[in-house]
Amino acid sequence: MTITKLLGIKYPIIQGSMARISRHELVSAVSNAGGLGVLTSVGMDKAELAHQIDLVRQETDKPFGVNLMLQQSNIPDMVEVIVEKKVPVVLTGAGTPAPYFDQLHIMGAKVIPVIPNVSIAKKMEELGVDAVVAEGMESGGHIGQMTTMTLVPQVADAINIPVIAAGGIGDRRAVAASLVLGAQGVQVGTAFLVAKETPIPDSYKQMVLDAQDTSTAITGLTIGDPVRGLKNDLVTKILKMEQTGSTKEELRDLLDGSLSKAVYEGNTQTGSFMAGEIAGEINQIKSAKEIIEAMFS
Ligand SMILES: Cc1cc2nc3c(=O)[nH]c(=O)nc-3n(C[C@H](O)[C@H](O)[C@H](O)COP(=O)(O)O)c2cc1C
Repeated sequence: MTITKLLGIKYPIIQGSMARISRHELVSAVSNAGGLGVLTSVGMDKAELAHQIDLVRQETDKPFGVNLMLQQSNIPDMVEVIVEKKVPVVLTGAGTPAPYFDQLHIMGAKVIPVIPNVSIAKKMEELGVDAVVAEGMESGGHIGQMTTMTLVPQVADAINIPVIAAGGIGDRRAVAASLVLGAQGVQVGTAFLVAKETPIPDSYKQMVLDAQDTSTAITGLTIGDPVRGLKNDLVTKILKMEQTGSTKEELRDLLDGSLSKAVYEGNTQTGSFMAGEIAGEINQIKSAKEIIEAMFS
């Protein structure tokens, strides 16, 4: 089955969940424009997630998804809300959805994990997931070690369920390339950071608009948790600390709360401004609809 049919969407594009960022405004705008909007559940309790889902449903009658960042400690609570609210699509990141899979599938949700390599893609196919997002390390946020160009064709050859390409997709050329590599669709994060509807401070959007091709860096490699974000004072400090052998605890002290400082306060010095390498190509604020239509024109 094609990914558009599977998900009930017009264009084969998923708005990648962005922790604390992809709230109802962006999600409903993407779904209304014919893609699949995906709500973040990071930092939410049960009541807040339920409220966000209700708001999406007030703003669109189109399908949408909820993302589970599996490193979070309250995933069972989030799953409870998703099942109660009968959310049609669940995307998972940073772990295996196996413990929650039956509960979600029996409720009728399509389950789509993000995978960083072929062996995990095969395990996910065996589990029975509906599709996988093969995400290359060009992407913003938590990353694996393969590039989109090498990962997508190898995953497409290895499994028989739909593959969605992610990482570094910012325009129609990259969408076309993804399809040529064997993907059925794309997942896009960074390009949506500057959507009109994305609820983040102007300073965050401006950093993305100002970014060049080499404006991102990977922090957290020394603690086994690599994250790609825009270079700023915080990133420079962390990279120095990593070079001089700082401990996980010392790095965590600096990183804790840094995403909130970016997303809620727009603090360009101490915030963690996650974004992918394609930020260098993004230089205009547009509506989610304009972003999607440009990719499929
Ligand atoms: C700011 C930001 C936050 C992200 N947070 C999450 C997250 O919470 N869960 C997740 O599965 N993926 C997360 N991602 C990854 C995106 O969903 C998506 O797969 C990725 O951005 C695609 O690559 P691109 O940034 O090159 O478009 C995040 C990406 C960004 C840029």
